Amino acid sequence: MKYAFPENFWWGSACSALQTEGESQGSGKGLTTWDHWFATEPNRFHNGVGPQNTSTFYQHWKADIQLLKQLNHNSFRTSISWARLIPEGTGEVNQEAVTFYNQVIDELIAQGIKPFITLFHFDMPMAMQEIGGWENRDVVAAYARYAETCFELFGDRVMHWFTFNEPIVPVEGGYLYDFHYPNVVDFRRAATVAYHTVLAHAQAVRAFRAGHYPGEIGIVLNLTPSYPRSQNPADVKAAHHCDLLFNRSFLDPVLCGEYPADLVAMLKAHDQLPACLPEDSALIADGKIDLLGVNYYQPRRVKCRDSAINPQAPFMPEWFFDSYEMPGRKMNPYRGWEIYEPGIYDILINLRDNYGNPRCFISENGMGVENEQRFIENGQINDQYRIEFISEHLKWLHKGISEGCNCLGYHMWTFIDNWSWCNAYKNRYGFIQLDLTTQQRTIKKSGEWFAATSLNNSFDI
Ligand code: BG6
Repeated sequence: MKYAFPENFWWGSACSALQTEGESQGSGKGLTTWDHWFATEPNRFHNGVGPQNTSTFYQHWKADIQLLKQLNHNSFRTSISWARLIPEGTGEVNQEAVTFYNQVIDELIAQGIKPFITLFHFDMPMAMQEIGGWENRDVVAAYARYAETCFELFGDRVMHWFTFNEPIVPVEGGYLYDFHYPNVVDFRRAATVAYHTVLAHAQAVRAFRAGHYPGEIGIVLNLTPSYPRSQNPADVKAAHHCDLLFNRSFLDPVLCGEYPADLVAMLKAHDQLPACLPEDSALIADGKIDLLGVNYYQPRRVKCRDSAINPQAPFMPEWFFDSYEMPGRKMNPYRGWEIYEPGIYDILINLRDNYGNPRCFISENGMGVENEQRFIENGQINDQYRIEFISEHLKWLHKGISEGCNCLGYHMWTFIDNWSWCNAYKNRYGFIQLDLTTQQRTIKKSGEWFAATSLNNSFDI
């Protein structure tokens, strides 16, 4: 069977500045929370490998863009590092960074690859974190100025902007579950951080529209469909709460211009609402986007809580649900995540039916694999499992499109094995294998498969 995709479908991959650039403490770049955290607690990082150990895109950008071309990418998402462009978060612009990003953007365009640019992919400048990070409204204003600087510098050529990548992740990691700096566990502070991130997003959208730049602006959200264990009302309610907290807390403001009433009521009932100013509602309403990036890796499976809540315990999302391991679920054997391909279709149908079918694309989907060298055959990683992973997801994506979903492209995480936050190089995701010692790059079987699929705008199975 042949699966053909619409004309001008975006084929590509995504990465981020901190995960690929390297040069983490040079060329005028300011420190990020990751540089700081690694310097103070290296043991929190897999094998003690920190953000200075990357595929050195800062030096290799030209050759890497050639590789993107070899993969037949017509589009590619990376981020600008706020701390590289404006080392103190606010104030002086680092001209070396301007040159670097100009070169990258120009080269991508010269090679026929559309640059998709994210403004914030988890890498808060340390100078901004020192004044409270997203808990401080001054940081919201500083981010808006940074965004405006990016639009002024690169907005004549970049046509696809994204204010944030997975904004809920720094909330969860930094303020609920202790896997990002500043390692706080406090729901109220988490709610403030999430709220201020939405305000920062909206400020950037406002600045973009006010500047009449030629492109479009959106956001990238990691959407995790929440499936209840059963249709029992208590399980369904648990899934609804998860959806509100982990998906709709960002999805509704950016697509509808307001928060879901149920979410507000729930937080109010538990006295967890962040402080709001009267002008915030108008700002949030102005933050509606042109284009949604959807990152999809795995679903969330939940059930109602088995045990009663101890009212003395600190308020956490888990007050509303328990995780549930669905018997027979398909697991990635090389990394403990569930693989559920129809999830991608369910997301698109939800967007079509409940959010007015917005312009969207799959901005990340990917399969992390540990110890991938074990699959080397004749010098190349034979990652048939990844080809299967992609094609099975693409089938469901194709079904969504054939049923009218407005999905414009598919980007994989990621083009080259990259450093990943606390996991460093534990899970490899790339189309291209990276030898960290020699910096040698070798295209995997999946890279060849993807290049052919992109070239043909279709695949057969
Ligand atoms: C995505 C992020 O959610 O997951 C990436 O946008 C990240 O930045 C990727 O690297 C994979 O994460 P991990 O933990 O499996 O390496």
